[in-house]
Amino acid sequence: MEFVEEIKIRSYDVLIDRAKVEDLQRRCEVGPKEHVLLYTDTMGDPICRIRNSPIYNMLVAELNNNEIVGLIQGSIKLVRLHKQSKVGYILGLRVSPLHRRKGIGSMLVNHLEQWFVSNNVDLSYMATEKDNEASINLFINKHGYIKFRSPSILVHPGNNRLNKPSSNIEIMKLDVCQAEFLYRKFMGLAEFFPQDIDKILRNRLSVGTWVAYYKNDGSLLDFDGGDDKFFGLDNGIIIPKSWAMLSVWNSGELFRLRVGKAPFSCLCYAKSSKIIHKVMPCFDVPKLPEFDDPFGFYFMYGVHKQGPSSGKLVTTLCRFVHNLATQSQDFNKVVVTEVIGGCDQLKPHLIPHLNFLSCSEDWWCIKAMKKEEVKTVYELGNTSPTRALFVDPREV
Ligand SMILES: CC(C)(COP(=O)(O)OP(=O)(O)OC[C@H]1O[C@@H](n2cnc3c(N)ncnc32)[C@H](O)[C@@H]1OP(=O)(O)O)[C@@H](O)C(=O)NCCC(=O)NCCS
Repeated sequence: MEFVEEIKIRSYDVLIDRAKVEDLQRRCEVGPKEHVLLYTDTMGDPICRIRNSPIYNMLVAELNNNEIVGLIQGSIKLVRLHKQSKVGYILGLRVSPLHRRKGIGSMLVNHLEQWFVSNNVDLSYMATEKDNEASINLFINKHGYIKFRSPSILVHPGNNRLNKPSSNIEIMKLDVCQAEFLYRKFMGLAEFFPQDIDKILRNRLSVGTWVAYYKNDGSLLDFDGGDDKFFGLDNGIIIPKSWAMLSVWNSGELFRLRVGKAPFSCLCYAKSSKIIHKVMPCFDVPKLPEFDDPFGFYFMYGVHKQGPSSGKLVTTLCRFVHNLATQSQDFNKVVVTEVIGGCDQLKPHLIPHLNFLSCSEDWWCIKAMKKEEVKTVYELGNTSPTRALFVDPREV
């Protein structure tokens, strides 16, 4: 008689599952084999990627011999879409390589969607690299998700030496109230703008928010008035003609990445950049992380620009963040961001990145959890983005 493996889906229990789940996460590569093979290292806290979200859950798939063969994570929050919507986000779906194509991934997705429904979620969404065939087939062909946006994930390593800031550009750090005020005012209508932006900005992983503007852009702004006047909340805000802002999240404190099999192009680049730096130290070349060790990353989120000359300000802010990464104690770090070109004109060329480390299309897919949201999903899937996309650093 054939032995049938019984699979139970249940909530993660930190006391009994932690070590097994971490081991599974370590063994499961993410993404297509042809690309850089990435593994996540959650450094002893398998649930770290969702812990900072307002409501979260992790489910595990367990065999009758207590072996954990699959897991999935989900979080729920309020965001801006056509209106304020309650959305469930699916991430961290992993099935042990030895137990794939047995329906375990599908079972985990079904159970997490049931949890969304029981929490009155309007829409469920997830993101995957466009080359991840298994994930695309599972979510789109099997579970009825539709692709609605495809932003680019841009990756840049720290530098060998610090970038010199441009003498006519001022970079200023904002406090949390100023940052929240500006985000609500200028990005409040962005797709997926989170209602609890203040919680993100106050989180211990938030490194800070910076604005950049031209020193001589004084026609609209009296800089002598000081920072309070610039972003004065009482007197209304006075802003320069062109400005840009972004925030930084230290994802490396939560989890690290390991490269399984670095592609040839990466290895060549790593070798030649080391040689160039040695022979011509004045020549600035980005420094790849040591791929043998787990490396962390800074995630730049809430990238926003306004005004005719704001493109250069975005680039300047990015270089400023590369400097932060270069100066940080943990030098083995890259800087990552995710942007959608088009509507908000955050074209990838404004954000320094290395193509072979980046992903040109990250597919964001969505599904209605309520009948009345089917139309929303249809509209999202059939219209090009007209608004900026806010990428929540908690979901990276
Ligand atoms: C993606 C993953 C979770 C799928 O898990 P799984 O348990 O094998 O999936 P299922 O058995 O439930 O498969 C459901 C459907 O997904 C699709 N699918 C799954 N694996 C596939 C593969 N290797 N190639 C093509 N389609 C695949 C098929 O349509 C399949 O239905 P079918 O078997 O009836 O043809 C698993 O491959 C995995 O852990 N991959 C590494 C981590 C990862 O990339 N996660 C996704 C991040 S978003």
